[in-house]
Amino acid sequence: MENQNLQRMDSEEFRKYGREVVDWIADYLKNTEKYPVFPNIKPGDIKKRLPGSPPLSSEKMDKILEDFNHIILPGMTHWNHPNFHAYFSITGSAPGILGEMLSAALNVNGMLWRTSPSATELEEVVLDWLRQMIGLPSDFRGVITDCGSASNLVALAAAREAIHRQIREQGLAGRTDIPKLRLYCSDQTHSSVEKAAIVLGIGQEGVRKIQSDTEFKMNVKVLAAAIDEDRKNGWLPFAVVATVGTTSSTSIDPVAAISNICQREKIWLHVDAAYGGIAAIIPEMRYVLDGCDRADSFVTNPHKWLFTPIDCSALYTRHVSTLKQAFSLVPDYLTTAEGDVNNYMDWGVQLGRRFRSLKLWFVIRSFGIEGIISHLREHCRLARKLADWISQEKDYELLAPVPFSVVCFRYHPGEISNESELEQLNSRIIDRVNATGKVFLSHTKLHGKYTIRVAIGNLATTEKHISLVWKVIKQEQKLCSTNR
Ligand SMILES: Cc1ncc(COP(=O)(O)O)c(C=O)c1O
Repeated sequence: MENQNLQRMDSEEFRKYGREVVDWIADYLKNTEKYPVFPNIKPGDIKKRLPGSPPLSSEKMDKILEDFNHIILPGMTHWNHPNFHAYFSITGSAPGILGEMLSAALNVNGMLWRTSPSATELEEVVLDWLRQMIGLPSDFRGVITDCGSASNLVALAAAREAIHRQIREQGLAGRTDIPKLRLYCSDQTHSSVEKAAIVLGIGQEGVRKIQSDTEFKMNVKVLAAAIDEDRKNGWLPFAVVATVGTTSSTSIDPVAAISNICQREKIWLHVDAAYGGIAAIIPEMRYVLDGCDRADSFVTNPHKWLFTPIDCSALYTRHVSTLKQAFSLVPDYLTTAEGDVNNYMDWGVQLGRRFRSLKLWFVIRSFGIEGIISHLREHCRLARKLADWISQEKDYELLAPVPFSVVCFRYHPGEISNESELEQLNSRIIDRVNATGKVFLSHTKLHGKYTIRVAIGNLATTEKHISLVWKVIKQEQKLCSTNR
């Protein structure tokens, strides 16, 4: 009884509410489509309905669940909705949710092998499965982090460690014995790379953004010349970040050519394939990772396009000892008797680590590789279909190739050539589309052009949903055009 009180709920009550919550989740997954994908509320509306201070005494679970339904749910943007096409479209699949529930119940902290042998060993095995699925060589070993941004940071910390300048011991501030460090990425690279440079003491000036070509891929000649120029000017080039599936247009940097430069120049190559890497599971799309076998580190995010609930990012490196050199710091209270085991706390910033591999294991086993491939293929097919419809309309233009499942375009009637007018018009279209609550879109800028993005990646999305996207866009665009 004492134990039950400590848990704040006895097991019969837990069973009752647990069933209620699972029923709720099952209905939600079945009916997500019935909710407006984007809530019709203003900033502050939800906060206004929540008490400003916590309850002094215990509240009933019935009341908590009621408030979840009546206060929280109306303020949700539904990422699991089949017409969520903003940013990257994702899925918290049912098998992944089951894994997540069990992980919450076990509540282990996977910092050391002994703090949960299964958590550590399953992480090793599942990441090795994923490595095989995307075709990386067997000398890549992986660790799960919470997100692609954290994976990029950890990888770049390893790259900094690899230059052997005692930065770990002496830091960078006030050092006159080492040149300023420079890392290279394209002007399409995700902002987390620049953030990593800020955190690592390299600074924004230490990030040289290489111009991308007309298809938004890093220009390799410009990269080689930039490294040359920097060396002559006293910089120390230490890392290049190539991207497979850039955030805005999903372009693929020429990794093989970039890796040639990195090998010649002895520079760490990190590949950010947070979104695009998963596509390599499809046999005919293996090519998207051409050259990645020669990377020093590599990231892909199962929480983006592998149906795994947020959060789960897989970071791989062939230089585990360098990574550990950057991060391992073992106080007395964390020393262990086991000799040759993997203590994942040594692989990054985090000490406390959730049991994230469990949900990924559930997903991979429940879908099987064949199931995963067929869903990914369908998403790419739907994207090509939408791109086809767009290209047949005289007043619309595709703004980037469609290598994966994201389509970038804009409405561009012949009589308007002014960029800022086009921006206002397309931004109004997106606002109007989102206000319908039927479809949720986001935008980007591609080489200065305001761009509408439709990302496809939810398991429930079918051709019917993509037809709806196109119908709503055209309908709202007509209303914008007449109101101009
Ligand atoms: C290419 C790329 N890298 C990294 C990230 C960051 O991933 P996360 O949101 O998991 O931090 C993103 C996010 O969209 C991305 O597109």
